[in-house]
Amino acid sequence: MTATTNRQFKLAARPVGLPKRTDWEFVTAPVPEPGPGEVLVKSLYLSLDPAMRGWMNEGRSYIPPVAIGEVMRAGGIGRVLASNDPGIAVGDHVTGTLGIQEYAVLKGSQLTRIDPSVAPLPVFLGVLGMPGMTAYFGLLEIGRPQPGETVVVSGAAGAVGAVVGQIAKLKGCRVVGIAGGSDKCAYLTGELGFDAAIDYKAEDVKKALRQHCPQGIDVYFDNVGGDILDACLATLARHARIVICGAISQYNNTTPVKGPTNYLSLLVNRARMEGMVVFDYASRYGEAAREMAGWMKAGKLKHREDIVDGIETFPETLLKLFKGENTGKLMIRVAAE
Ligand SMILES: NC(=O)c1ccc[n+]([C@@H]2O[C@H](COP(=O)([O-])OP(=O)(O)OC[C@H]3O[C@@H](n4cnc5c(N)ncnc54)[C@H](OP(=O)(O)O)[C@@H]3O)[C@@H](O)[C@H]2O)c1
Repeated sequence: MTATTNRQFKLAARPVGLPKRTDWEFVTAPVPEPGPGEVLVKSLYLSLDPAMRGWMNEGRSYIPPVAIGEVMRAGGIGRVLASNDPGIAVGDHVTGTLGIQEYAVLKGSQLTRIDPSVAPLPVFLGVLGMPGMTAYFGLLEIGRPQPGETVVVSGAAGAVGAVVGQIAKLKGCRVVGIAGGSDKCAYLTGELGFDAAIDYKAEDVKKALRQHCPQGIDVYFDNVGGDILDACLATLARHARIVICGAISQYNNTTPVKGPTNYLSLLVNRARMEGMVVFDYASRYGEAAREMAGWMKAGKLKHREDIVDGIETFPETLLKLFKGENTGKLMIRVAAE
């Protein structure tokens, strides 16, 4: 290894509203040396996720916040440059919480080896990574779709949503996606085989839901919260299930989170709404990855990655998620494979 410097993004301030460049510090540190049981990884791809916005806030959540002055937390894929773990060899490709930096040292037990012959490396941050696992377990374990039922998913052209809709189709459901813009909607009904798509930026969502879901919604997979959650609540079928996966429309609020006004629809329709956190299914990721890799191989599960070059672009690239500028899984390519 010849590189001696490690560029990193550290959290400099807790953002108010959308994160700004001044909320970050872009620093250069020495490349760390791995200690006993540790592994030095060179970052190749770093995952950008809406959850990062929550990790920047103070307060109780499902994992602790990133501290001020700490390297920003991020999942990633890298190549092993040095290893003091007998289970991981130099040259292996691994995934783990590398952080927004060019080199990371982690314990071998914090890394998972990946096999690039199964799929291109970026897919391990998308369909075969955390978003794919979220879609798989959120839909199948919480949503429990039955053949013939109507499944609605928001954030439908994103990393999680696109997988949710396709799995629901594989399970024999009628699938309606909600996304921003005509290009994303055409992608859903054209390339991904959704039955209908609603452009929430141009259409009256409530009216369009009534049109596309004449029997009501059996499963609503919520990635966005806010007004779209309310519109779906107003269109539920009896015994509907709502999967609370995320609420990206609320993450940058400077006002309190907008709660659902139409929640009494749960009572009227004997419906339920349940939150899910993907990490609860960690012991079963292998099972999901095997099934989804099989669907991909058979051409039944498509994937798209939105790859931006250069770690230095991180502050602006992250904002693509909140401006709807990504289609598919957003990530940064830090170095050539
Ligand atoms: N519970 C869990 O364990 C878990 C795990 C992973 C992800 N999540 C959640 O799942 C959701 C999707 O994550 P992802 O990684 O797949 O992101 P993504 O969908 O690839 O990207 C975010 C998308 O959200 C949409 N969006 C942004 N602002 C919006 C707004 N105000 N109203 C409606 N839509 C908006 C944009 O698409 P449009 O152009 O369509 O607006 C944007 O492309 C997020 O809420 C995330 O926090 C939860």
